[in-house]
Amino acid sequence: MASGKPKVVFVLGGPGAGKGTQCQRIVEKYGFVHLSAGDLLREERAREGSEYGEQIEYHIRNGSIVPVKVTCSLLENAMNHNIKQFGKNKFLIDGFPRNQDNLDGWNEQMSDKTEILFVLFFNCSEDICTERCLGRGKSGSGRSDDNAESVKKRINTYNNDSLPIIEHFKELNLVREIDASLSADEVFAKVQQVFNECSAVGAGGDQ
Ligand code: C5P
Ligand code: MG
Repeated sequence: MASGKPKVVFVLGGPGAGKGTQCQRIVEKYGFVHLSAGDLLREERAREGSEYGEQIEYHIRNGSIVPVKVTCSLLENAMNHNIKQFGKNKFLIDGFPRNQDNLDGWNEQMSDKTEILFVLFFNCSEDICTERCLGRGKSGSGRSDDNAESVKKRINTYNNDSLPIIEHFKELNLVREIDASLSADEVFAKVQQVFNECSAVGAGGDQ
């Protein structure tokens, strides 16, 4: 059963760095709940009657960042659901915080209620990120932002707005950096080293 504050690992890295792929594997091995900010926003965009649908679509196409009030509420609701329904208390928060507004909103709304274990940073070159996103678009990801124009904008946002947040966490000694240009298996081997070194993670599959 869950005890203590919910534990959070933030997962950051450029578009196409492999955050989602690795998170799936972490879920299987370590029993975390995977909450992708991008996926939650896409779900909210598709929800009938959402007052944020158009605003979200605008930001997703432009590779810009949705105001934190929207994103943080989606994250908090999803966390509460998993805590109450399934007794979960370990969360991978993927693609968040992406800019200063995200970080400020989290600190205001969530930092007292959660414990940050570390920040998993998938570092990957722009060329590889671009190649992966465009490849994903061609093989039918169905995402409105896996096209050359949107990918360029997403990379700009990452460089200008997200990298400073990673720097901020580096100063707090929270960043665990992984070379994400390697194959998914090689990256996961390194991911496991990071999780196995963290005593708060608990045994594999522990809730
Ligand atoms: O992480 P992912 O690539 O799925 O994010 C897709 C888009 O969702 C981002 O380019 C951005 O427009 C939006 N997003 C956001 N705030 C976040 C995460 C994603 O606005 N924290
Ligand atoms: Mg993703």
